[in-house]
Order: sequence, then C-alpha cells, then structure tokens
Amino acid sequence: MEPVDVVGFEGRWSPATPDPDEVRVVPLPQSRQQEAVDLVCARLPHTTRGEAGWHFDAPEVFDGLASVEAVDRHGVMLGVGFTGHPHFAPEGRSFQRVVVAGEHEGRGVGRAIRQALLERLPAGTTDLVTGTFDDEPRSLEIAGHWGFVVEEHAIESELDLSDLPTPVPPPGVTLHVVPDLVFHDAEDVERMLLASQTNPEAAQGWLFDLGKLRALFSDNEIPVCVVARVDGVPAAITVGGVSDATLMIAYSGVGPEHRGRGLMSLVKQRAHLAARDVGATVSRTANEEHNHGIRRINASLGYVVHSGVYRMSQRLEG
Ligand SMILES: CC(C)(COP(=O)(O)OP(=O)(O)OC[C@H]1O[C@@H](n2cnc3c(N)ncnc32)[C@H](O)[C@@H]1OP(=O)(O)O)[C@@H](O)C(=O)NCCC(=O)NCCS
Repeated sequence: MEPVDVVGFEGRWSPATPDPDEVRVVPLPQSRQQEAVDLVCARLPHTTRGEAGWHFDAPEVFDGLASVEAVDRHGVMLGVGFTGHPHFAPEGRSFQRVVVAGEHEGRGVGRAIRQALLERLPAGTTDLVTGTFDDEPRSLEIAGHWGFVVEEHAIESELDLSDLPTPVPPPGVTLHVVPDLVFHDAEDVERMLLASQTNPEAAQGWLFDLGKLRALFSDNEIPVCVVARVDGVPAAITVGGVSDATLMIAYSGVGPEHRGRGLMSLVKQRAHLAARDVGATVSRTANEEHNHGIRRINASLGYVVHSGVYRMSQRLEG
C-alpha cells in the first residue's frame, strides 16, 4: 500500500513503514502542536491533553524550551520530543521527553529524537529528568539503556469533583483560599512550607519556596491554593492549577508540629471546592509509592489510583 501523502491525523495512521534513513527530526511548528498532543495521548492513554501539551500552553514556565518532531519523507509525524528547564526545578535539571507513535516504534525514531534533543539542551543542563509509565516495560528498558536511573515510583490518582463534602474545621482552625499565593504573613507561610517538605522529592532537590510555587503556573492555568491556620499560625498548604477542567495538585504539606490533626484533609477538601468553582471536574495527584501518609489521606478523600510512573534522571558527562 502506498503511504498516504497527507500531513495530519490521517497521515499519522499511515501503514507505511518509514525508512529510518529518511527520518528527519525538525523543530515542531506551532501549527502542528495539537497533532503532537494527539499523538502523545494516543500513545500514552494515561496522559491528559493538559499534561501532553503543558509545554505548549506554558512556555513561560521553561528556559531553553525546544520541541521537535520526527517526520518521514512525506512529512508524516512519527514521534515528538521536547526539552526545557522548568523554573521550579533544581538548578541544572531539564526535562527530556521522547514519544513515538505506537506503529512506528522499534525503528530508530526514538533514537533520532533523543539525539536531536541532546543537541538542543537548555544552557547549564547537568541532569536530565524523564518518566515512563509503569505498565510500559519496553520504554523503561530503553530509558535505562539511554542512561536514566529510576528515582521514584509515583502513583497517580484521581478524584471526581461532582459530589464534594464541605470541610468543617475544628475550633481554632481556619481555612484560607489564596490563589495568588500572596500572604500578609508570607515569612511564616514560607517557613511552614519549607519545614513541611519531608517528602522524598524534596530530598532529591525538588524543594518549593513560595517563589517556585508561583512559577509553576502558566497564564492558561488558574492557580488554587488553600492554607490552614491554627490560632492564626500557618500550619498546612495545598497548591495546584486548573486547566482543561482538571485540578493538578502540585504540592501539599503540613508543618511537622501540626501533623496528626486531620489538617491535610481539610485543606484538600477546601481546595476541591475552590477548583470546582473555577471549572474543574476532576482532581489529579501523584505520590511516591512509599509516602503512605498522603496516599492514605487521598484514598480516604475518594481518590482512585489509575496509573503509576517511574520518575527517572540521568547525570550528563562532563
Ligand atoms: C521509549 C520510546 C520513545 C522508544 O522509541 P522507539 O522509536 O521504539 O526507539 P528506537 O527504536 O529508536 O530505540 C531506541 C534505543 O533503544 C534501544 N532499544 C530498543 N529496544 C530495547 C530494549 N528492549 N531494551 C533496551 N534497549 C532497547 C535501541 O537499540 C535504541 O538504542 P540507541 O538509541 O542507543 O540507538 C517509545 O517506546 C515511546 O514512545 N514510549 C512511550 C514514551 C516513553 O516512555 N518515553 C521514554 C521516556 S523519554
């Protein structure tokens, strides 16, 4: 069968086998970003369109952002990739993502995209960060072959926001919705925020201060932030962003001296209501598999596990 000489959705499903020698990796034009999102979502069914297109919707969140596509001689999109240093990431850490359409895997397309991305590293990159879904053993093997090592296994879960309880704080506890993350007692909030980060990701260098939390959100996202105060003192925080009707929770923490009193459930319940008010229908979160405390809280709030991801990194030579 002759390859379909069409650039676009139909073209991507061409049964033609690309000759690896004819694969070219070129910058992804803006006009093909939605097709790139289609390809990623078709290949990775656990991924939302918001996640797949995050770097297109939020270029201001990255330094040195580069998006590429692999095309055959007809211009048919075979795979896509991007690299970029997110402002909230530890210094020197840049994302690298390679996704190849299922029907074109195993023919050198992934390798060509990876090579092109290595030639477009953001300035100052010392480490690359990537992820593979835990039901993708071949992708995990290939990432390992490229030099990535697993840093953690994160469990992704989701809550339907249609039927939500109203949180009832005990005496002395107040809940505050602060989407702009501007606080009259910013120093106290930041002290609590930093002390709360006893999570495994913080030990790997992913530490959030208020500035980094603010840098998480693009112009297309609606930030959601809820802080609990105990007798006026900041005690717990949850922060996320709404886009595509989905609240993505970025960070949740309770100050160590305020643990064991149910504060996290309260701030999350309040955040769910705030997210629904601005159009979210679901909330998604990811937790390191051994982070039993937050996983138990999420389960009791009704979150349902839907996938798992190996978060990986690679130290670059020299
Ligand atoms: C991972 C993925 C990008 C690979 O794409 P692909 O086009 O099938 O890959 P290629 O055929 O070019 O092979 C890539 C490399 O893996 C090697 N490889 C192939 N199968 C392998 C296996 N089972 N174990 C180890 N290495 C393997 C190839 O020899 C090649 O090595 P090289 O880059 O040193 O030349 C693709 O499977 C995919 O899109 N997966 C989902 C997204 C994902 O998880 N991406 C990985 C994180 S960035």
